[in-house]
Amino acid sequence: MQGLLETAVENPWSTLEYVLDSPLHPGGRESTESLLNRADVAPGTRVLDAGCGAGDSVTLARNRGARAVGVDHDPRSGGVRGDLSALPVQDDNVDVVLAECVMCLVPDQSLAVQEIRRVLGPDGRLALSDMVVSGAAPDIPAPMSEVLCLSNTSSRVALLDRLERSGFVVTDVRDHREDLLAMRDQIDSRVDYESFLGLLGDRGDRLLDSIRELEAGVESGEISYVSLVASVD
Ligand SMILES: C[S@@+](CC[C@H](N)C(=O)[O-])C[C@H]1O[C@@H](n2cnc3c(N)ncnc32)[C@H](O)[C@@H]1O
Repeated sequence: MQGLLETAVENPWSTLEYVLDSPLHPGGRESTESLLNRADVAPGTRVLDAGCGAGDSVTLARNRGARAVGVDHDPRSGGVRGDLSALPVQDDNVDVVLAECVMCLVPDQSLAVQEIRRVLGPDGRLALSDMVVSGAAPDIPAPMSEVLCLSNTSSRVALLDRLERSGFVVTDVRDHREDLLAMRDQIDSRVDYESFLGLLGDRGDRLLDSIRELEAGVESGEISYVSLVASVD
């Protein structure tokens, strides 16, 4: 049992994918479809899903006829191994970069945004959804901060500013705090994580404290989730 728990904690994305049976971002497949619509992903559109995880969004893009590939530094289902700070893609080779719940994990986001800009062609679009914080992010130690998508989370203002400084025009920003709360409820209804983490002793207690801190931040509105589409200027 202990070995199983250790494996679950050491492979957080695979564990969460198993628990949620859906993409690892608030709003699930519905929010991806909405982002793909807003970024005009249609038959033939070249899509790069940066931080593709298990590849659900790549499948959704392909289902609408797009030529989609995924990149992830830990690809779990057919994606290409690669990092947002050095995308394994040639210049001007992509119409839409999709980046769902990944920028908040990237240490050098300016570099990642420049990389996204580099691979996009002249009419390129970035379709992004991400965690945002207002004020200071909760002080959650690594690796828990990464599991909770709070390791490098920006404020909404800083996120938009970074995009605009890298040559993007942000056209459509929406708030999805309710999707974050629904995801929390979904995890809550599927896993008794308090008992589960209780079995991990001190480490589990620390993770539980971090989850409670995250929940308090979402309830107060200090932590939220946004989506946006940005076009190459
Ligand atoms: C919260 S999951 C989101 C996965 C997927 N986009 C989705 O919505 O289901 C974050 C993913 O980003 C990947 N990731 C984190 N930092 C990355 C980086 N610097 N470059 C590439 N992938 C990264 C992780 O391996 C993980 O699969």
